[in-house]
Amino acid sequence: MIFDFFKKREIDYTKLPQHIGIIMDGNGRWAKRRGLPRSAGHSAGAKTLEKIVKECNKIGIKYITVYAFSTENWKRPKQEVDYLMDLLLDYLKNAEERLAGENVVIRAIGSRKELSEEIREQIAKTEDFTKNNTGIVMNIALNYGGREEILSSVKKIAESVRKGKVLTEDITEQFFEQQLYTAGQPDPDLLIRTSGEMRISNFLLWQIAYSEIWITNKLWPEFSVDDLMEAIYDYQHRKRRFGGV
Ligand code: FPP
Repeated sequence: MIFDFFKKREIDYTKLPQHIGIIMDGNGRWAKRRGLPRSAGHSAGAKTLEKIVKECNKIGIKYITVYAFSTENWKRPKQEVDYLMDLLLDYLKNAEERLAGENVVIRAIGSRKELSEEIREQIAKTEDFTKNNTGIVMNIALNYGGREEILSSVKKIAESVRKGKVLTEDITEQFFEQQLYTAGQPDPDLLIRTSGEMRISNFLLWQIAYSEIWITNKLWPEFSVDDLMEAIYDYQHRKRRFGGV
């Protein structure tokens, strides 16, 4: 029995989740526990992210969506918002060296109009630079909110209906999905949240309808490849019914 406990949990690499979503929570608490400024937590979180994306790509996960900055995060102190924006800018700028070399396709999802011109331009450059890569697609949710995404999709559709380009009966789930930031991508099979909170926090509201949720008490900067494997292992032992029996 004791052997079972220590035995490494075997992942079935033929049944990996296609898409993993991650709510990377707990950077601030991680820093506080060490007597460090919150910015140090975000910086450590960025390093964890790099490690996890590389591992996901290596094992053959096709899509990963990470919650980097929500539409509500503007309420944080200006100093923290500025730090996060600088970190994101730096991350996107260095993507070539850090991740594109790993064959990662980088995309930003969320509303762009509130972002600085510098970030918007960098997003366009990074997306363009990595678009022909063939490895994992990494969606960075940046100024992202699930409600904002749904509302902006509804507005686009309403406009098309007003112009007579779309009929009400054409508005199916498949059609609606094509208006989302994640158009053309499969929904997340697995949603990971760190730091123990049992919340969705406005993340991918439409897309996570049938995602398996996995929550750990670990704070994001301390999340490891072993934790990722445990989440995948648990996911592989769930019975997904999609509303059926
Ligand atoms: C939540 O922790 C985390 C965030 C709001 C930011 C997530 C950002 C990163 C992991 C790093 C940067 C990302 C990229 C793509 C470069 P929190 O600050 O709310 O933690 P707390 O709940 O402990 O205060």
